[in-house]
Amino acid sequence: MPFPIHRMRRLRTGLLREMTRENTLSISDLIYPFFVDENATKKIPVSSMPGVFRWPLSMAADAAKEAYDLKIPAVLIFGIPKNKDAAGTASYGDHDVVQEAVRRIKEKFGDKLLVITDLCMCEYTDHGHCGLVDMDTHEILNDRTLPILGKIAVSHAKAGADIVAPSGMMDGMIAAIREALDENGFKNTPIMSYSSKYASAFYGPFREAADSGFSFGDRSTYQMDPGNGNEAVRETQLDVLEGADILMVKPGMPYLDIVYRMKQEFQMPLAVYQVSGEYSMIMAAAKNGWLDEKRCFYESMLSMKRAGADLIITYYAKEIAEMLSDLS
Ligand code: PBG
Ligand code: ZN
Repeated sequence: MPFPIHRMRRLRTGLLREMTRENTLSISDLIYPFFVDENATKKIPVSSMPGVFRWPLSMAADAAKEAYDLKIPAVLIFGIPKNKDAAGTASYGDHDVVQEAVRRIKEKFGDKLLVITDLCMCEYTDHGHCGLVDMDTHEILNDRTLPILGKIAVSHAKAGADIVAPSGMMDGMIAAIREALDENGFKNTPIMSYSSKYASAFYGPFREAADSGFSFGDRSTYQMDPGNGNEAVRETQLDVLEGADILMVKPGMPYLDIVYRMKQEFQMPLAVYQVSGEYSMIMAAAKNGWLDEKRCFYESMLSMKRAGADLIITYYAKEIAEMLSDLS
């Protein structure tokens, strides 16, 4: 007869509650994503994501500094180019937007801040898809996209990127990128793969932020079906075999079962992406006075840690870092 011998409430007060906490969130878990827009001359607010901006290239290091000053160890950069075309050619030039942004940030911070680059074609193609497209049939040309991803990876690494993060969900992309990096003298550049990335409606606000909406179709032929869990194991297994160093689940909160499974299955460093829609949803409710913004973000990120995440990519990184440093 457990009760009254066992009383779960004994540990739930004061310092004991804190000391017996199983999971915590710390600043070193955080990755701060931001957008660098080659067309911008000043910070442009993203209306669907209060507190998020598109930064002009000239301010890329300022954006990074805001994270650095709060002791956030890593940033994730998205680029918005001046010119888009069918083949996304502005994605791999040595002086294109991401490459220039990386160079400026690394010049200023060196080894004191990790620079991760999102590696995909969708911000650079005029049709907005993550790979080359046959314009007659609208088929995604998976295999012809791979060498381009390799080129983008090498250009990012040359500019000084510490980690590349392919997000396009093309089959074989990790192997192609690993090979291109190795052949060009970047065998020590890690790959953080968006390994289980779902075709999610929670990316809605990002499309405004990164100007990456598509002109036809959707991403369901390459991103995963939200109904699938077992498939994530196979999809991720392939990335592991192809040489991924860090895995990722995206989105975060609606996919915590996947986070848990990926950690159990692979025991590898695991990132979770709290995506634009997750951010906007809490923000919108908070702006209406319906939710406590800070506490809800904190709790949502703690849930990711509990599920097995090591790293959290979040637009709320700065605010959480501030909150965590106040607590300590
Ligand atoms: C593009 C990319 C997307 C996100 C990260 N990289 C959008 C998409 O796949 O449609 C989503 C990020 C977010 O919603 O915050 N490959
Ligand atoms: Zn993409």
